[in-house]
Amino acid sequence: MNIIIKKLYWIVAAVLLILVAGCADDTAADTKQQVATAAQAPVTLDVYKSPTCDCCRKWVDHIDTVGFQAATHHPSDLNLVKQQLGVAPQYQSCHTGVSKEGYIFEGHVPADIMQKFLAEKPKDALGLAVPGMPVGSPGMEMGDRYDDYDVLLLNKDGSSSVYARIRHQG
Ligand code: CU
Ligand code: CU
Repeated sequence: MNIIIKKLYWIVAAVLLILVAGCADDTAADTKQQVATAAQAPVTLDVYKSPTCDCCRKWVDHIDTVGFQAATHHPSDLNLVKQQLGVAPQYQSCHTGVSKEGYIFEGHVPADIMQKFLAEKPKDALGLAVPGMPVGSPGMEMGDRYDDYDVLLLNKDGSSSVYARIRHQG
C-alpha cells in the first residue's frame, strides 16, 4: 500500500512538472511573439517640437529604440498646436506626440508606458502627459540625478489621474 502511494506521488509530481514546464514555454513564446511584432511594425508617432530643443531630440531617439517611429514637425506656433490638441497648460511640456489614432503623448513620457497605454486604450482617454521636464526622464538624463515624477492619464473631459508613478528613491 505504501509503495502504491509513493508511486502515485511521483506520478502526480511528474505531471505537475510537465504542466509547469509547458506554461513556462508558452509564456516565453508569447513574449518572443510580442517582441517580434513590435520589431516588425513600429508605432508611428507625429512629434511636434521646437527645432532647437535638444531634450526633445533625445526623447525622439529614446522612443525610436523602443518600438516607435517618430516623424518630427517644427510648427511656428507650438503653443497653438497644444491648444488645438486639447493639452491644457497645466499638463504641458516641451514636445507633443500624436499617434495615428489621435492619442496625445505630452512631454518626456517613457516609451514602455506609452506601449502599455496603446495596448490598453483606456476609455475616454486623450492621452498621457509628463508635465514640465523631470530630470532623469527619457531625454532628460543628467548624470545620476533622477526626479520622482508621475505620468498622468489625460481624459477627454479635461480631467486627469495618475497612470504611472516613477520613483527612484525609497
Ligand atoms: Cu524636454
Ligand atoms: Cu521635448
